Amino acid sequence: MGKSHFQSPRGTRDIVSPESDYIKFLVDTFAEHLSTAAYGQIVSPIFEDVGVFQRIGENTEIVSKEMFDFYDKDVKDPQHLALRPELTASICRAFAQHRPITPWKVWYSGPQFRYEKPQAGRYRQFLQVGAEVLGTSDPGADIEIISLAWAFFQRIGLRNTQLLINSLGDPESRNRYNDELAKYLDDRKQELSEQSIVTLKTNPLRVLDSKREKDQEVIDEAPVMESFLNEESAQHFKEVKDGLEVLGVPFKISPRLVRGLDYYTRTTFEFISPSLDTAQNAIGGGGRYDGLVEALGGPETEGIGFAVGIDRTLLACEAEKVVFDLDIGTDVFVVDTTGGREALLLSHELRQLAIKTDRSFGGRSMKGQMKAADRSGARYAIIIGTDELEENQVTLRDLRGEGQQTLVPRDMIGKNLLTILQEK
Ligand code: HAM
Repeated sequence: MGKSHFQSPRGTRDIVSPESDYIKFLVDTFAEHLSTAAYGQIVSPIFEDVGVFQRIGENTEIVSKEMFDFYDKDVKDPQHLALRPELTASICRAFAQHRPITPWKVWYSGPQFRYEKPQAGRYRQFLQVGAEVLGTSDPGADIEIISLAWAFFQRIGLRNTQLLINSLGDPESRNRYNDELAKYLDDRKQELSEQSIVTLKTNPLRVLDSKREKDQEVIDEAPVMESFLNEESAQHFKEVKDGLEVLGVPFKISPRLVRGLDYYTRTTFEFISPSLDTAQNAIGGGGRYDGLVEALGGPETEGIGFAVGIDRTLLACEAEKVVFDLDIGTDVFVVDTTGGREALLLSHELRQLAIKTDRSFGGRSMKGQMKAADRSGARYAIIIGTDELEENQVTLRDLRGEGQQTLVPRDMIGKNLLTILQEK
């Protein structure tokens, strides 16, 4: 086949069946999972005023370097917009705009856009599902959010998932830690990689995220946040850990887990799939962002949430050989050698009975249609030739096993098939 002139843009891909079926299954399962905990769905715009995302933090890479931004066409007053790189900022904007009753519990799913360097498991358009609770600092909300994310991974059949948690404290202790860390890293600057020296200037905490070999020793010996937590944050963190233990959610404390977004305060967490390549093995993450609604012009409102990367979750499922039990096949293939009218009528009739039915087009020969029936993976073929048409009958043929055939009265075939399929 020749190469077509246009390709999907770099970092994007066309997802087709069966992968698209698996993705739909994951999203549907997530929706059902979150509804059992009284979260309502929110569907917000895919683009927002760029300012919404700038509140995530100017030092956050997804904001400073990776935003797909553009101006609209208003000649007099063009608005600077951006495709969303994540959904938490949009949810906080929506909260500030509508001021719903708290706690406000929402879930979402949709594509996100980041101008990243694409590689396996890292795309410029990717799909997230996630949930947020706004309006409470109760550690119970942290526990609910983390355990819901954990239970989702369990529910879809992933067994090799690690939960890492940390507390970044309140903004005041976070700032003190930040200063102390900056001083420490600056003292050992000669030992750091070039990229980390650049990061150090703008965002010392992000140096801790470096996976580069050269930085590891300095990172391993760096001061940890936990010793900077004030009493209130330390108590909050303790209650979160205790709650997770009570629920039997296994976790590991990762004192240097900072995450890539600047809005986090107190609880932060990440889900890692060791089955994936280490560079892109985070399948989900989240945390508290107690100042974000205010930064977006809303009232002082605490918040916590998480997002799961569906593309990577699917890769983890593949790596762990998780089998999805999906009913996506075709039940019946209608083969009509009498001109196509019967195929038209019968497929319409069977589909109304919710029997998954396919047919061929273009007046193909009996042989061609039977080949198509085999390729469709359908369990049965219904054959209508001139004899059948004259007798007001159809031939029902089992496409598996011995290929048994029976003649069925035309007006009984729908009912018969329903019974047969229900028995399977
Ligand atoms: P995040 O860690 O940036 O957090 O993204 C969450 C998940 O999205 C990641 O763990 C990963 O699985 C997936 N992901 C991120 N970037 C890519 C990419 N380029 N390609 C494929 N998958 C990707 C957030 O977005 C926060 N909004 C989470 C949150 C919710 N925090 C509080 N509430």
